[in-house]
Amino acid sequence: MALDMDKLNAMIGKGLADFGATFHAALVHIGDELGLYKGLAAGGPQTPGELAKRTGTVERYVREWLNAQAAGGYVTYDKASARYSLSEEQAFTLADENSPAFLPGAFQAALAATRVVPRLTEAFRTGKGVGWHEHDPELFTGTERFFRPGYAANLIASWLPSLEGVDAKLKKGARVADVGCGHGASTILMTKAYPKSTYMGFDYHAGSIETARKRAEAAGVGDRVKFEVAKAKDYPGGNYDLVTFFDCLHDMGDPVGAAAHVRETLSPDGTWMIVEPFAGDNVEDNLNPVGRAFYGASTLVCTPASLSQEVGLALGAQAGEARMRQVVT
Ligand SMILES: C[S@@+](CC[C@H](N)C(=O)[O-])C[C@H]1O[C@@H](n2cnc3c(N)ncnc32)[C@H](O)[C@@H]1O
Repeated sequence: MALDMDKLNAMIGKGLADFGATFHAALVHIGDELGLYKGLAAGGPQTPGELAKRTGTVERYVREWLNAQAAGGYVTYDKASARYSLSEEQAFTLADENSPAFLPGAFQAALAATRVVPRLTEAFRTGKGVGWHEHDPELFTGTERFFRPGYAANLIASWLPSLEGVDAKLKKGARVADVGCGHGASTILMTKAYPKSTYMGFDYHAGSIETARKRAEAAGVGDRVKFEVAKAKDYPGGNYDLVTFFDCLHDMGDPVGAAAHVRETLSPDGTWMIVEPFAGDNVEDNLNPVGRAFYGASTLVCTPASLSQEVGLALGAQAGEARMRQVVT
C-alpha cells in the first residue's frame, strides 16, 4: 500500500466532521423545537440548569446538548463562569426566525428528508420516484422556514423590482399566479407588499394548500389571496401579468409541459419569474459546499419527486442556467 498519511488523515478528519454533523442536524432541530437557542439568546450567559428552567426542560439533557453545541461552534462556552451563551452571530443565525440567515429550517428539512432513506434505497434499484407529498410533513414546514427568510429579505426589495415593468404593474393592480407555492410564503409576502393586485397560489399537494390558507388567514390577507390545489401543467385562469415559480420547477416531472402552460396563461406582455438554487452549468462548477448541500437535497427529495410524476425529466436542483433555459424555451 502506498498511503499518503497526510491525505489519509485529512480524509478521516472529513469523515469525523461529517459523522458529528449527522448527529448535529438532529440536535439543531431539538434545540429549535424546544426554544433552547431562543432561551439562550434571551437570557444571556446561563448554566444548563438555568436554561433548562427557562425552557421547561430537564437539566441533564440540556447540559449534554450544550456541550455538543459548544464543541460544534454553535454555542459559546465560558470556562471561568461555566456558562453558555450565544454570540451575536450565533443568535442571528439560530435564534431569530426573521433573520435572512436563519439556519434551523434547513436542518429541519434535511432531517425530515432522511426519513425516506429505506424507500429511496429501493428506488435506486427500481428507478421509481418518491413524491413530494409522500415525505414526512416536517419537510414541508422545514422548507418553508428555510426559504422564507431569503424571500422576505429579497423578493420585494430586489427581485421583483429587477424585472422589467413588474413592480409598476403590481403597484397598479396585476393578476399574479404563484405556482408550486407550498405553504405560500412567497405568495403572502407579495400580497402584503402590493395590496392592489390579486393573487392565486397553486400547488399539487393538498396538505400544503391547506396550510397556505391558514398562513394567509394568520397574516390577515386571507381575503386577498386564494390557494387552490392544481398542477403546474393545468392550473386554472389566464391573462396573468406575473407567474412565479419559487424553487419548484426542477421538482416537476414535466417542466417543459409546465412552461407551455405558463406561456398559455400569461397575458401578452406578462412575465414568468423562476427562482432556482444557484448552480453552475457543469458538474465541476458545483463541487463546493453549496453544490454538496443541493446535490444532497436533490438526491433525497427533488430528483425522486420529479421521477414520481409524468415524463420524469428529473432536472435536479443543480441543473444550471443553460439547462433551465433549454427547458423553458
Ligand atoms: C421545494 S418546494 C417549494 C415550495 C415553495 N414554492 C417555497 O418556495 O417555499 C416544491 C413545491 O413544488 C410542488 N410541486 C411539485 N410538483 C408540482 C407540480 N407538478 N405542480 C404543482 N406543484 C408541484 C410541491 O408540492 C412543493 O410544494
